[in-house]
Amino acid sequence: MTFQAVLIVLLLLIVVLLVALLRQGWQRDAESPARDEAGTRRLFGQIEAYLSLRDRLGLRQGMPYSHNWSAAPDFLKLIVEHALAAKPATIVECSSGLTTLMLARCCEMNGRGEVFSLENGPEYAAATRAEVARYGLEGRTAVIDAPLTERTIAGREYRWYALDDLPDRSIDMLVIDGPPGFIQRHSRYPALPLLFDRLADGGVVYLDDAARPDERALVEMWQAQFPALEHEYLNTERGCSILRVRRNRTQAA
Ligand SMILES: C[S@@+](CC[C@H](N)C(=O)[O-])C[C@H]1O[C@@H](n2cnc3c(N)ncnc32)[C@H](O)[C@@H]1O
Repeated sequence: MTFQAVLIVLLLLIVVLLVALLRQGWQRDAESPARDEAGTRRLFGQIEAYLSLRDRLGLRQGMPYSHNWSAAPDFLKLIVEHALAAKPATIVECSSGLTTLMLARCCEMNGRGEVFSLENGPEYAAATRAEVARYGLEGRTAVIDAPLTERTIAGREYRWYALDDLPDRSIDMLVIDGPPGFIQRHSRYPALPLLFDRLADGGVVYLDDAARPDERALVEMWQAQFPALEHEYLNTERGCSILRVRRNRTQAA
């Protein structure tokens, strides 16, 4: 092939590439108003949920909200509504933060209940304790230093919270928002193999980030292993799985 022929082929390739890029841009422009509108609606929904929680719980001296790490306001609203309606005596949660503060405030408003928060990061534990103290909720909360330790469950290795300092109580509400997904595959799976026996009959489990493929898979693993669990999935921003313990369901079956 001559030099001129190579040049023509190269020019043709560049023209084809430019046309493809322009077409992609046009398509994106045509779709973006609808996408922007849906995104704006979702954002306003979250802000509304956040502000209504702040007012309802009287947390007007600021809240430790972090977009990257805190549970989304629509998930927070679900757990707060349950805590205020069911008035659980013992709440356990996996990972501390804004969830701890809100649940502790619910216990105070209910006039009963305590939150035990398993926290692997000493700096996160200290930050949560400071927030809890700022609102005078220490009597309703224990942030437990629970480093992630090696566990073998059904032949697989996991790193999960040390349970040595968790009091041996019947658990009415379990909120699972950790360990983070990047720690391992099915990061939150050990929660039920290790805590199911402590869950009260009628107790409720809330799993955040349930829209992720990993969480969907581990919910299926739990359901296969614990037939006493009734599962409901709610389409929140990050997905919420609610699992209710119905021990008589398995006895009757
Ligand atoms: C998953 S979020 C949930 C916090 C809380 N439930 C809330 O809504 O505010 C934050 C948690 O992630 C964990 N975390 C963050 N960075 C981490 C890291 N590099 N290694 C292990 N855990 C980490 C900490 O335990 C921290 O409490």
